[in-house]
Formats: sequence, C-alpha cells, structure tokens
Amino acid sequence: MAETKQFRAIKGTRDILPPDSALWNWFEQTAREVFESYNFGEIRTPIFEETGLFARSIGAETDVVNKEMYGFGSPDTEEISAFVGFLNNEQVWTADYGLLRGFYGVARKFQERLKTLVHADEFPKGANLKLAEQLDLSLSIISHVLSQNPATGGLIGKLADKDAEEVRRAVASAQVLSRGVEYPQSMSLRPEATAGICRAYIEHGMHVRPGNVKLYLMGPMFRRERPQKGRYRQFYQVDAEVLGPSDAPGIDAELIEMLLVLFRRVGLVKTKLYVNSIGDKNCRPAYVEKLREALRGVKERLGTDSQRRIETNPLRVLDSKVAEEQEIIATLPKISEHLCDACREHFSQLKQELSLRGIQYEENWRLVRGLDYYTRTTFEVTAEGLGSQNAVCGGGRYDGLVEMLGGPPTKGIGFAIGTDRAILSIEELGAAPKPQALGVYVAWMGKAAYPAAVEIARKLREAGIAVELPAEEMKFKKSLGLADRLGARYALILGEDEVASRMYTLKRLADAEQKKLAEAELLEYLESERRSG
Ligand code: HAM
Repeated sequence: MAETKQFRAIKGTRDILPPDSALWNWFEQTAREVFESYNFGEIRTPIFEETGLFARSIGAETDVVNKEMYGFGSPDTEEISAFVGFLNNEQVWTADYGLLRGFYGVARKFQERLKTLVHADEFPKGANLKLAEQLDLSLSIISHVLSQNPATGGLIGKLADKDAEEVRRAVASAQVLSRGVEYPQSMSLRPEATAGICRAYIEHGMHVRPGNVKLYLMGPMFRRERPQKGRYRQFYQVDAEVLGPSDAPGIDAELIEMLLVLFRRVGLVKTKLYVNSIGDKNCRPAYVEKLREALRGVKERLGTDSQRRIETNPLRVLDSKVAEEQEIIATLPKISEHLCDACREHFSQLKQELSLRGIQYEENWRLVRGLDYYTRTTFEVTAEGLGSQNAVCGGGRYDGLVEMLGGPPTKGIGFAIGTDRAILSIEELGAAPKPQALGVYVAWMGKAAYPAAVEIARKLREAGIAVELPAEEMKFKKSLGLADRLGARYALILGEDEVASRMYTLKRLADAEQKKLAEAELLEYLESERRSG
C-alpha cells in the first residue's frame, strides 16, 4: 500500500470554514449593497496577469514587486531554450551521417513540440510558427539526404560535399529564425487589484462610458510576506476604484464616505482615518530631491533598509516603523510644505469636502503608501484589535497610471480593504452577527415516514428554510440528540402515526415546546418564524 501523507495548508494561507465563512459572506454582501448604493458595479479580473503590468504600475523598486510577488513562467521555456542552444551548436550535426541522424531525431522532436505549444496558445504564434515551419522544411531536406546514402543507408560515413552543403544551408536557415524565438510572458499572481482593473479599463475601452467609471472587486491577493496575525500570503481585498475624466476632490471624499458607511454598517467602529497629499509630477520630484538631500545628511543614523531607500525610493523612509529612526524622520522636510498650488488647492478642497460630510480625519504627512502609482490624495484607515498590522484599508489617487499603461489620459482613485483584517477586527469588537441557526431538523422513523420526510424537507427548503434531513433511519432519541448538537431550532417529528394522520409534530428545541400542525399550518408557521428571525 502506498505510504500515507497528510497535507497542510501552505504557510501564510488558511481555510475559512463554516460558520466563519458566513461572516465573510455577510461582510462582502454588505459591501456590495453599500457600493451599489453609490452606483458602483462589480468587476472580476483574472488572479494572474503579466508580471510587467505589476512592475509598471506598482513600481519595480517597491517591496511588493521586488520581493513579494509569486511569479511563474511557462514550464516549457527551459526545454525550448535548451533546444535553441542545441540547434546553434555546430558540433551536434556536421557532415557525419551518424551525428546528423542523431541531430535529426532531436530536432524533429523539438519541431513537433514547438508546433504543439504554439497551437495550444502556450507559446506566442508569429516568429515561433515561422521557426516551426522552417524547421519542418530543413528537416525534410536532411531526411532526404540521409535516405540518399547508397553505401550504408545513411547509418555511418561522411556526407558528400554537395549534400553537406545542402544540410548546412538547411540548418543555417533554422538557426537564424531560432534566435528570434519568442517566449511566453512571465506571469504573476496579483498582489493587488488596481493594476488589473486599469488594464481591463483600457482593454475594454471603458473610458467611452459616460461619466466616471465606478468599479468594485472582491477576491484573493497574493504577497510573499512574513506571515503573522493579520498578515497572510493569500489574503482578501474588497477594492473600489473610480476612473474617468475628473479628479474633483468631491470624488475622493465621496469614496472615503462610502468606505466609512460600510465600516459603520458592519460595526467596524473605533477606526481612524489618516489623509495626506503626496503631490503630483509637478511638485513631487523636487520634494523627493530635497528629502533625499536631507536623508543623505543623516544616513549614518539610519538602518540598512532606510539607507538603501535614500537612493531607490526616499519617500518610503517616511513609512519606516523602526523605533530608532522616528526622531530623525520627524525632522525631515514635509511634503505639505512643498506642494504646488494646484496640489495644495486639491488637498485643501478635499479636507473641506470631508468636513462637509462630517468625516473626522487626521492629517499624516508621513502617509506615502508602499506603491508607486499614487499622486495627491493618499489615505489609510486603522482599526483596533489588530496588533501591528492595524491598517484595515489603504487607498489614494493615481492620476496618470492608465496613461502610463497605454490608455487615454485618465484620473483615478481607489482603496482596498483588507478583508481578513476587517473580519478580525469585527470579531474582536464583538460586532459579528450570530450565525443563522439551522431551521428544521427532520427526525423521521419508519420506512413509511421516509417519503413524507423527503417531501416535506423539499417544501420547507423551497420556502427558504434551512433543513437537515438525515439520510439514514435513527431512533428518535438519537435523532433528536443530533438535532440538538447541530443547533437546529426545531425538530419536525415524523413517525408512521404522523404520516397516517397527516399531522406533524414540531418541537422547539430550546424549550421542548411541541405543536401538532397540518402541512399548510406548518409551512405558514415556520415561514412567519423565519421572517421574524
Ligand atoms: P495596500 O495598502 O497594499 O493597497 O493594501 C490594502 C489593504 O490590504 C491593507 O490596508 C491591508 O488591510 C490589506 N493587506 C495588504 N497586504 C496584506 C497581507 N499580506 N495580509 C492581509 N492583509 C493585507 C493596495 O493594495 C492598493 N491597491 C489600494 C488601492 C486601490 N489604491 C488605489 N486603489
């Protein structure tokens, strides 16, 4: 017998089981309702995209792209590239019949493999199809030459000069094309949703839709981070984005309002909203230079990560949580003092718009966020009960990102809620609704009762009542014990007497109160119970 092995979920991933999953569904359902009341529509994008999309959007120098992405290429890339090396190695064929026959065998296999990969859309067509066709042609020339050797049937010996020249030319044509072989793009699991949404916005020409396009997305994201409470390698986001021609600060404020309405609805109170403006392409570069200058002056007092970031991404130093760096960071130049007029005006209007909506916020000049696409508004919400990973939502404006990805000039702003963290916080606050109890357990006994049990279970389920119907006969005592342990509200007792009299016994398990009801009364009674919760 094969050895047994138990598998466990991969580090940083986890299973969400019932009844917890009901809490997740409730959270996501509430988000749908709130977002749809703000006229957002759902978008679903693939969970993997071309790696380049993330590198261009989020930034190649960010931790997310640099260290945390799960990337994968085509499993066939190595095989094809090894063959290209083989084909370009003159020593593997030459004018020797034996070597040439060996070469022919390998090359034919490669040619067939490449053709299959191209036709299966695993490898790009274009150049690769041309190579496969040329190889086919070159190999039929070689095959012909091999079969022409009169003395040995092409098994041993040297090729005649004329044949050798023909083979050389055939191989050379394939060699030239093989250098242009196109490999499939490297792909990565999405570490966030914004890049994919912008890609889809461009790909489907969504900019022609009237007004701003408001989208939301829910689903798993993947980052190879060190797992800890509230930080996972597969985690979930509820993401919302507004894309379109306008960057009016009212859009930013309304988006934040929507987020807070959701948080209030799900009992996620005691949150804190932080806002900032990180300027745009007109004012930020000069600020970044000023910051870099200042950082160079204090370089020796910073940790290695911050030292490296002075050159690669000085803004990220402001994000540092290293205790010894906090005092130094407090003395650095602040972006709010270096915003251009347009950015300052945008930020000031945003704050007015927030006040208009009665939204409380705190300005945090160090809120630069870990992704490169942000301009102007950035914001974050922290929640209680989460320990060090207390950011439950992050977002900001990314005007220009769509354009950078080859789309039309477009403004954009959005946020992503970390669902895992939101749920954790809701649980810790004790705000989670109680999972819905099982409605009715059908305790049947006796062969004659079974068909009636099947039928009444179906009717109750059609009426929206959750029903558990045991598939095997049990003694009433055992059956009712199980009903209790399953947390059913009622047990419907169905013995042969009940079937004969067409009167059902309904027992409320909390207080053992029993009623005898005809089918219509039973349905009516349970439905009204369900409606009243
Ligand atoms: P982010 O700040 O990288 O922003 O992630 C948003 C939220 O996702 C975080 O505040 C956190 O709650 C959650 N999160 C991130 N990483 C993890 C993890 N490893 N485990 C658990 N939760 C995590 C973005 O992703 C941007 N795309 C937000 C955005 C949308 N900006 C504009 N539009």
